[in-house]
Amino acid sequence: MSERTKSPVTVLGLGRMGTPIADAFLAAGHPVTVWNRTAAKAGPLVARGAAGAATAAEAVTAGPLVIAPLLDHEAVREALGPATAELRGRTLVNLANSSPDQARELAAWAAGHGADYLDGAMMALPQTVATPSGFFLYSGSQDAFTTYRPELEVMAPAHYFGTDPGAAEIHDLAVLGTGYAALAGFLHAAALLDTVGTPPEVLAPLAARWLGGMADFLPELAREAGSGSYSDGVSTIDLNRAAVGSLVGLSRTHGVATDVHDPLKALLDRRAADGHGQDSFSSVFELLRTRNPSKG
Ligand SMILES: NC(=O)c1ccc[n+]([C@@H]2O[C@H](COP(=O)([O-])OP(=O)(O)OC[C@H]3O[C@@H](n4cnc5c(N)ncnc54)[C@H](OP(=O)(O)O)[C@@H]3O)[C@@H](O)[C@H]2O)c1
Repeated sequence: MSERTKSPVTVLGLGRMGTPIADAFLAAGHPVTVWNRTAAKAGPLVARGAAGAATAAEAVTAGPLVIAPLLDHEAVREALGPATAELRGRTLVNLANSSPDQARELAAWAAGHGADYLDGAMMALPQTVATPSGFFLYSGSQDAFTTYRPELEVMAPAHYFGTDPGAAEIHDLAVLGTGYAALAGFLHAAALLDTVGTPPEVLAPLAARWLGGMADFLPELAREAGSGSYSDGVSTIDLNRAAVGSLVGLSRTHGVATDVHDPLKALLDRRAADGHGQDSFSSVFELLRTRNPSKG
């Protein structure tokens, strides 16, 4: 049985993310054509086997799949502005960080030029491209996602969130937000321990271990928030209100800013004042979500 011939891939933008992406396609045996605004950055990739294009338009004509890990929305429009005729009949995968509305606007722009569009959000760092740690989120053309899934999976495991081109970006921000809350908590903890002479390097492995356990707890949290059933949780509002109250109180005593945990304390206080102290911690979700009238 002969192996499927690897299809040509174009990569526009050879920055911190674009370079490992182009390398991943080379390593997977794809013919890769690269273009970068600052042409010199293409040199090492050409030396490793990529074809260098003099213009974005020339790069686009090299194959059916155009992947653009450029800086932002404006960079994508600027790079592809002179290549609109060449885009016709091809698929554009925009990996630049964008707002949901920018993604929708670019999808409409691409459609106006006869191109299929996938919006992508990279949950990865340069060094985790094409490793099990990274994953990419996509939305937009279902046809493009299905057709090019093998190529997309060369960069990272691919998750599809539907035909609204803006969907990948809102999921990206939501997942980022989860991480930011944890990282801000770590920095607060480092400031608190600094007052007793414990360096952040000692905290880091302990915090990582704790976060691992928290990650294992997420499916339970999701089940409770998804079902709206908070009566049999293992960790109540009252219990966590006491713990967060202690953390905020101790921080104040040590002269450490409490900005990170004040909002959570306020939510737990509200939930308790509303008579839900014995509900699960996850019931904070009820204070955060917008009520969807269609769900009653
Ligand atoms: N780095 C990360 O850890 C990371 C992780 C996840 C997602 N992201 C996202 O991935 C995207 C790329 O990030 P990066 O870290 O690879 O950025 P980067 O290293 O700064 O590279 C940016 C790329 O965009 C090009 N560019 C910028 N403005 C342009 C314009 N007006 N016209 C044409 N090309 C232009 C640059 O070309 P020149 O070389 O000519 O400047 C370069 O190829 C961003 O949206 C970023 O938010 C980054």
